[in-house]
Amino acid sequence: VYPRRVTTFEQVIEDLGRVEPRDAMPDDYRATLIRQIAQHAHSEIIGMQPEGAWITRAPSLRRKAILLAKVQDEAGHGLYLYAAAETLGVDRADLLDALHTGRQKYSSIFNYPSLTWADVGTIGWLVDGAAIVNQVPLCRCSYGPYARAMVRICKEESFHQRQGFESLHALSHGTPEQHAMAQDALDRWWWPALMMFGPPDSASPNSERSTAWGIKRFSNDTLRQRFVDMTVPQAAVLGLRIPDDDLAWNEERGSWDFGEVDFAELAEVVAGRGPCNAERIAHKVRADAEGAWVREAADAYAASGGAR
Ligand code: 3HC
Repeated sequence: VYPRRVTTFEQVIEDLGRVEPRDAMPDDYRATLIRQIAQHAHSEIIGMQPEGAWITRAPSLRRKAILLAKVQDEAGHGLYLYAAAETLGVDRADLLDALHTGRQKYSSIFNYPSLTWADVGTIGWLVDGAAIVNQVPLCRCSYGPYARAMVRICKEESFHQRQGFESLHALSHGTPEQHAMAQDALDRWWWPALMMFGPPDSASPNSERSTAWGIKRFSNDTLRQRFVDMTVPQAAVLGLRIPDDDLAWNEERGSWDFGEVDFAELAEVVAGRGPCNAERIAHKVRADAEGAWVREAADAYAASGGAR
């Protein structure tokens, strides 16, 4: 009988294998995953706010049902990701406290206001579209629980992106006022969506190690470019203009050249000085307090041994 091949962490990473919760792993690897998975989970939960604000104002029962399903999915994504983070030995309550007190972040994109109904479709099309570009490679991340959580999340994000595009297509091919509303939303969300992919590779302090550890499979700029190349033809189908005068097809590269992303704006939003940062956290802290009785009841029920 052959002894089980003892594989070191380095061997697993080199073999593009999976690190599982009970495997030996460097403290920094664990810390990086806790940071990224927690922030990803926070993004899913805070991301419920801009769209949730439109559930009661959806223009039809069909749009309301679709939006309800999407927002509910986001809560589930947060649940999967907090559960994945807990396999690394952290407590969910501590992660939420870190979010509430600003010690941990969430995606910059959710610090922008959703001003009209067209924003809901634009968020689905662009934000969930960007999330798919960023998250499909994470299905092959070296940490097992994170990669497996991503598989289901990516399937649901595809529905999110498609429903957003379809909703925006109805508007952009509707009345002139509806077309203008769709164009206004694209004008406001385009550049913040490019910022979702993070700072440029030249200013991305975590990329080198995350790439070496098989967490990040493609660089921030590579995925940003992939998103632009995917989205420009979609905007053409919508009949909407992407707000970038430097956007031009580069035949030699087989890719779209695009203008400078305002990374100073990204830094400001990440630092907590975006349009909606304070509002988003205040809402989350209030919801957490209002929901405390549910958690207490669940804890009391569990302590009582459950149903007799
Ligand atoms: N928003 C907020 N913070 C950001 C950011 C953004 N868009 N982009 C970068 N940052 C932060 C990073 O967290 C890091 O700060 P930290 O070290 O204090 O955590 C710093 O800026 C430097 O950036 P790096 O590129 O060095 O950091 P990463 O290697 O972590 O790359 C990332 C950033 C690409 C966002 C990476 O963390 C990642 O892939 N995260 C998982 C995916 C994710 O979180 N997506 C959120 C999208 S929203 C979503 O999925 C909800 C869906 O329903 C739409």
